[in-house]
Amino acid sequence: MQNKRIKNILATEPLKQKIEVRGWLRTRRDARDFSFLEINDGSCLANLQVIASSALGNYKDIVLKLHTGCSVLVAGELRESPAKGQTVELHADKIEVYGWADPESYPLQKKRHSFEFLRNIAHLRPRTNSLGAIARIRSSLSYAVHQFFQDQGFILVHTPIITTIDCEGAGEMFRVTAPLHIRKDNSQEPIDSDFFGKPANLTVSGQLQAEVYAMAMGNVYTFGPTFRAENSNTSRHLAEFWMVEPEMAFCDLTENMALAESFLKYLVHHVLEKDAQDMSLFANFIDKKLFAKLEKVIEKPFTRITYTEAVDILQKSNKNFEFPVRWGTDLQAEHERYICENVFDQPVFITDYPKDIKPFYMRVNADGKTVAAMDLLLPGLGEIIGGSQREERYDVLVARMQELRLNFEEYRWYLDLRAFGTAPHSGFGLGFERFLQFVTAMNNIREVIPFPRTPGSALY
Ligand code: 4AD
Ligand code: MG
Repeated sequence: MQNKRIKNILATEPLKQKIEVRGWLRTRRDARDFSFLEINDGSCLANLQVIASSALGNYKDIVLKLHTGCSVLVAGELRESPAKGQTVELHADKIEVYGWADPESYPLQKKRHSFEFLRNIAHLRPRTNSLGAIARIRSSLSYAVHQFFQDQGFILVHTPIITTIDCEGAGEMFRVTAPLHIRKDNSQEPIDSDFFGKPANLTVSGQLQAEVYAMAMGNVYTFGPTFRAENSNTSRHLAEFWMVEPEMAFCDLTENMALAESFLKYLVHHVLEKDAQDMSLFANFIDKKLFAKLEKVIEKPFTRITYTEAVDILQKSNKNFEFPVRWGTDLQAEHERYICENVFDQPVFITDYPKDIKPFYMRVNADGKTVAAMDLLLPGLGEIIGGSQREERYDVLVARMQELRLNFEEYRWYLDLRAFGTAPHSGFGLGFERFLQFVTAMNNIREVIPFPRTPGSALY
């Protein structure tokens, strides 16, 4: 007897063979002398249809008491299905229950629940079609991220989660601390100290540490959780999110953008090809134009404009924006949307932002006013990638740090990378959840991470 996962059974259809499946009951429908059971085991979107005959010894005591959410074992023979909707069905000769689920209190019923409702039962929501599909797509795309970089010889670097620097300089960090009792010399009195002896935080980006390894290994990437204590209660922000950050030595902004574009296209291609069944759910129920939207991203080269050109377009648009557009101020979501959706209707790189609105590490351009930065905007989503060429000139970086009054002692090691064998280098960060939002057309970012952390909310 073979014990298989439903995904494999539906792919290979081992007809007339005895098989065994284990999973959770989605629905039960009773006919005159048998019941239809829909079983899902999480391996794929599709359920396996089971025919449970009233001739089964425990039909009355077990089968007729099964409800949505029960976990079961079903053994039987796989046969062609005469009915529409599936090609095969499992004719059960044995059904056992692992765990019951009381229909009075089990929160997931047959009807479609709102995503808001499901958010409050984060421990049960992966049992729904949509959240299950997202979990599989997320896993599949994580694999694709590694494949993309590994195939090109990038070295994966596990950058630290606890750090003593503020990469983005925005000060939006979660403090990490614990008491430490140390005895100095032969003193009997313990000294209370902070665990690391200096302030430490959860990382907002692995970039600065990735730069260290790029300056030794050439091309590296890091892919891990990052944390921001920004009080942004929007559908695009999480306090804990995952970021993919490649960092390349001997690479300028143009090459950086070329890599970002091919990376994004690779991921879209991957999800369309490898996750077609799960993706069909979102194309059918969330956004009917999803596949067309994604195909369009792969087809054409992305647009590239400078920040100055973007400001010009916005000012000439005669649109009444909530936030006025002025050279030197950051672009707001409404501005980004206008450019990306109304003007170009495709992914747009905006480059060369004013240096005063960007972090200290970005390379200052010849004009002295702008930096070699790039943001990639996606239609319907906004910023998906932020990156830049890094300032590799020792003196220029020192001047920038002085301007921003950064603590030189803390960045001594970062300056060392410029003092010893400096090289032009570049990198970017892709927000993994924002990308998942883009490909699944999920309106809220809280749906694409298993356990969302946002201001005022952290379940489990
Ligand atoms: O633009 P950001 O802040 O760039 C950096 O952190 C650079 N150090 C990356 C690098 O060059 N290595 O963040 C990068 C991306 C954003 O474009 C966005 O997609 C995502 O991370 N992001 C968030 N995603 C969810 N919730 C948040 N609070 C996010 N903040 C940024
Ligand atoms: Mg950014």
